[in-house]
Amino acid sequence: MAVTKFSQSKLTNKEELSKPLGLTRTAPQNTPSAVTSVLRSNTNTPQRASFTPSAYPGAGSLAMQAQKAGWQGVAARNPNVVPAAPNQLSIQSRTVSDVQYRRFASYIEQQSGIVLGDNKHYLVNSRLSSLLLRFKVSTIDELINLAMDPGRNSEISSAVIDAMTTNETLWFRDTYPYLALKNLILPDIARRGKVPVRIWSAACSSGQEPYSIAMVVQEQASSMMHVDPATTQIVGTDISPEMLERCRQGMYDNHALARGLSAERKARFFRPTEDPNLMRIDDRVKRMVSFKQMNLLGSFSLLGRFDVIFCRNVLIYFNNQTKAEILNKFALSLNPGGYLILGSSESMTGLCDKFEMVRCNPGLAYRLK
Ligand SMILES: C[S@@+](CC[C@H](N)C(=O)[O-])C[C@H]1O[C@@H](n2cnc3c(N)ncnc32)[C@H](O)[C@@H]1O
Repeated sequence: MAVTKFSQSKLTNKEELSKPLGLTRTAPQNTPSAVTSVLRSNTNTPQRASFTPSAYPGAGSLAMQAQKAGWQGVAARNPNVVPAAPNQLSIQSRTVSDVQYRRFASYIEQQSGIVLGDNKHYLVNSRLSSLLLRFKVSTIDELINLAMDPGRNSEISSAVIDAMTTNETLWFRDTYPYLALKNLILPDIARRGKVPVRIWSAACSSGQEPYSIAMVVQEQASSMMHVDPATTQIVGTDISPEMLERCRQGMYDNHALARGLSAERKARFFRPTEDPNLMRIDDRVKRMVSFKQMNLLGSFSLLGRFDVIFCRNVLIYFNNQTKAEILNKFALSLNPGGYLILGSSESMTGLCDKFEMVRCNPGLAYRLK
């Protein structure tokens, strides 16, 4: 019997519900099943979580139900799951205790702003399981202890925080921000003759947002009133080193390319590689964007000032006080008349009074007062 192990760093939420992370499965030799072929393809291209609370309402409670049902019962009914050998990790070792969960939730909020809430044990279990083998730690509780040990285990701390981020993104997400950029914001900046134009994609995940912004600037280069792509500076920042590495590589697989990108833009802004499943972003777009690791909870002062800030689909994970502090720091990071664009389910009502709302039809932007 061939033995296959899950080795992904992160799975999508659906996968988190249906797969026993780290458990040993068996498959008949030389007869690859759907399960084994999925596992093989995932070994080379680890998937990151693609779950947002706003995108999949109810997914959290479903996951909790699955967690409550108990993986042991599920495993007992699954002929493909064999009991772990003595030197392998047990199911219990992959389950965070209540006490550690509470400590960890407050640690994650303090370090990244992400609010886990009272009962996301399933999320902690699934996201951290893959780190046990990597750091040769036998239980999630122990991994959490190491991560929280100040100054001694920075690699573990960083990997644990990285694992708890949700990196769902796509090209030209929600469309309207990019229409606002094209029809309202870039013409306004061009009229003012501002050079260089500086745009910040804060929490840029795997790069689709800053590269989409760069494509819009490129597309407008032939219009009468335009911002010059050659002098435009786009900065992408994220807390996740793994995501920033993907941004810098600028290589996207067919699955990522199919999400939000028109055939025209794909042909214009991407180049084939030797791998038919991968395309690389064109150098004209790539050189407009630089990337930097940055925690939104920290200081923004080293980045300088911007004319536009995109901060989309990350504030939803933070509490109101953190949101307010970040919005006020954005106000200090913008040039006079600068614009801020938030995610479609995010608002600054009651949190910050330094911006005025600009209706863009569709959607809205915020302009510094
Ligand atoms: C859901 S993605 C949003 C990506 C993109 N802005 C979009 O709308 O498609 C959220 C990103 O926020 C990042 N993130 C979470 N907490 C952060 C923090 N405290 N500082 C910086 N980035 C953070 C995550 O690593 C993740 O890549």
